[in-house]
Amino acid sequence: FQKKILAGKRVLITAGPTYEAIDPVRGITNLSSGKMGFAIARAALEAGAQVHLIAGPCDLPTPLEATGNIIRTNVVSAQEMHAAALGATDCDIFFAVAAVADWGIAKPAKEKIKRQGTKAPTLEFVANPDILFDVAKTAKVKSGKPHPYCVGFAAESDNLANYADEKRQRKGIPMIVGNIGPDTFGSDLNQLLVIDERGSKKFAQAQKLELARQLIQLVAKKI
Ligand code: C5P
Repeated sequence: FQKKILAGKRVLITAGPTYEAIDPVRGITNLSSGKMGFAIARAALEAGAQVHLIAGPCDLPTPLEATGNIIRTNVVSAQEMHAAALGATDCDIFFAVAAVADWGIAKPAKEKIKRQGTKAPTLEFVANPDILFDVAKTAKVKSGKPHPYCVGFAAESDNLANYADEKRQRKGIPMIVGNIGPDTFGSDLNQLLVIDERGSKKFAQAQKLELARQLIQLVAKKI
């Protein structure tokens, strides 16, 4: 960015998957690579922001670490990600990019669950907290705008525009970004449908970093 459009702004981002332990060696996770969230972190840093990146288990390097403008908190479970995010709501923009597990295991075993012949164990799940919903609840209106400005992400297999906007309203957030197409997990490319209260806008297929820069430009105008 030629102009540091987010100079002096604080940006909170959740990225990557979460991991819900079944026992010390097994767990449930998803295919999120963290690439989109990390790209948004980089684009926000390029725009001059102070970034707090809360990352689920993923191998990606911290973007532009040498700037000293990024703090990274590594978490494992959705509960941990929730605690970290709710402790960091003192920010101007929140991008909820993480693919958070909807359910955790009710009672993870302390020891590895042993095989019992052909008998399979039964897992009991508990619903995880909705990080985005809970951060959005803390938002206050400042100069007519919600603060922090919360941006959600949606990956839907069908009817993206409708489901995503419904999700935006249910979560009480001003903007949601839909991932278009089924191949976004792990890919360097993506295609986005950005929806706010005024309508929707498509960002054509491009590198995730390029899309992240476009998104930062758009959100910077909203705050
Ligand atoms: O439909 P879903 O609740 O999964 O909506 C996805 C959006 O909500 C994403 O922005 C995701 O990061 C966020 N989310 C969250 N905590 C959850 C579930 C989803 O922050 N437990």
